[in-house]
Amino acid sequence: MSVKHKNLLGIEPLDKVEIEQILDGAKIFKELCAGNNKKFPALRGKLILNLFMENSTRTRSSFEIAEKRLGADILNFSASASSLTKGESFYDTIKTLESMEPHIVVMRHSSPGSAKFLADNIDASVANAGDGPHEHPTQALLDAFTIREKMGTLTGLKIVIAGDIAHSRVTRSNIFLLTKMGNDVVLSGPATLIPREIEGLNVKVETDFDKAIEDADVVMMLRIQKERQKESFFPSLEEFNMLYGLSRERLKRLKEKSIVMHPGPINRGVEINSEVADGARSVILEQVSNGISIRMAVLYLLAGGKINELTH
Ligand code: CP
Repeated sequence: MSVKHKNLLGIEPLDKVEIEQILDGAKIFKELCAGNNKKFPALRGKLILNLFMENSTRTRSSFEIAEKRLGADILNFSASASSLTKGESFYDTIKTLESMEPHIVVMRHSSPGSAKFLADNIDASVANAGDGPHEHPTQALLDAFTIREKMGTLTGLKIVIAGDIAHSRVTRSNIFLLTKMGNDVVLSGPATLIPREIEGLNVKVETDFDKAIEDADVVMMLRIQKERQKESFFPSLEEFNMLYGLSRERLKRLKEKSIVMHPGPINRGVEINSEVADGARSVILEQVSNGISIRMAVLYLLAGGKINELTH
């Protein structure tokens, strides 16, 4: 980003300094937005195209709020109301939209690699808002921002990510980010939902969830992604909840200062019980609101902004 990167396609290509630059930018935007004036028209006159080809609540709305706060012009594209339904190809759709001269395209798509395909075929900068099970970089950035804010550090922590690892773009982006920043990442879930190759990404795997969460500083729960599963990976949701659900009893065994995270949407009573999701250790809704500041920083940097100019 900024000087080195035209696009934000994933966390994998970013280095530690670039990650810190985005987090620091988000911190400044959060502080600026805490006052009455929430408008910083750094993107005035720039057109941002929101291309959501897969459903979203959090990512879509927070990108749009971030864009409005930055004063950009916005075009919201809905796949279901477009000529894609008449058989127009994805390539022709993006070339058509490109002729309207967007500066930045924010895209969510169900296919891994679609963000790169888009970036390879248009002049605008691309912000990946989630491409299938590949990456969800702004989610990992807002997670990191929330961890740093809550724990006072983003280094040397034990961070457990648990649940449906196999279908999770959030896990992949978080693994890249959290290991680059020097944390211990432990993955937990049924062996059928943890792909073998993920162990090559400098993480530990512990299929016994009770062992995994011992001494954890952060426990990040993941939803079972039924829409990406063509087969059954465990006998029943009840059994999954018994073995891998974050319950009040398990919460009591965590360290006093540990926090509970979830990228959402949550399945209450499956991977997380209501009293935990709504409890004092849960930072789930703070993750959502921090998403606005992170997306402001990302869009600002993609548009060529400089973080050190924000405070002048
Ligand atoms: N965490 C996340 O990406 O949520 P949405 O699908 O609602 O955007």
